[in-house]
Amino acid sequence: MEFDAVVRGRRSIRGFLPKPVPKALIREILELAMRAPSSMNTQPWHFYVVTGAVLDRIRAGNVERNLAGVPHSREFRLGPGYEGVHRERQVEIAKQLFGAMGIARGDAQARQDWVLRGFRQFDAPVSIVITYDRALLGSDIPPFDCGGVVNCIVNTAWSRGLGCVINSQGIMQSPVVRAEAGIADDQVIQTCVAMGWPDDSFPANAVVSTRKSVDEAAVFLGFPD
Ligand SMILES: Cc1cc2nc3c(=O)[nH]c(=O)nc-3n(C[C@H](O)[C@H](O)[C@H](O)COP(=O)(O)O)c2cc1C
Repeated sequence: MEFDAVVRGRRSIRGFLPKPVPKALIREILELAMRAPSSMNTQPWHFYVVTGAVLDRIRAGNVERNLAGVPHSREFRLGPGYEGVHRERQVEIAKQLFGAMGIARGDAQARQDWVLRGFRQFDAPVSIVITYDRALLGSDIPPFDCGGVVNCIVNTAWSRGLGCVINSQGIMQSPVVRAEAGIADDQVIQTCVAMGWPDDSFPANAVVSTRKSVDEAAVFLGFPD
């Protein structure tokens, strides 16, 4: 696929076909995505690629702990809740997704089901847990580097017909992920990416999120015009 078509066409996929993803294809995607730049070429990322019974145990543990009200244990700092324009954008994408799925604003059960779907990593056949070396903990740079490689992963996957959603919900109960995926103590869990073959009949997969304009995002200085 052309680069522009990949970037413009990619969207988060939250409904998957029950069809396995070959290990060789995931290796190919990771090999290409790891061309991502990183600070001083440190490449601090590691990938725990989970499927099958291991992923099912992670899903079950995530759901069980969330239903039991166990507080999240993400391994990175969270700022205050979104406000202002950021809150508006958060609400906008939620409205788009709920609208597509026919989830009414007041339907607490359907909303809860959607949240649980996220904790189940949208029932994707594969989850890639992204970690970085704990020796670098405390710097904001390795999470930035992980963001770079994750962006490459989701776009590379898309170029090969696979869909992804970067899924913070999947690692909110980090002890479950850590235990089931056998994540070494010298690793910090940054995020996970749910991956699989898109189910085109799943309404939320058709949602195209909006973007602010270049004029809102960029200031150009020193140009002649
Ligand atoms: C760091 C990060 C965490 C995310 N976590 C979640 C998540 O937990 N659940 C979810 O449904 N989407 C999650 N997303 C996907 C975003 O909602 C999505 O990328 C955004 O709305 C833009 O939509 P698009 O990917 O379709 O362009 C996450 C994305 C990022 C970058």
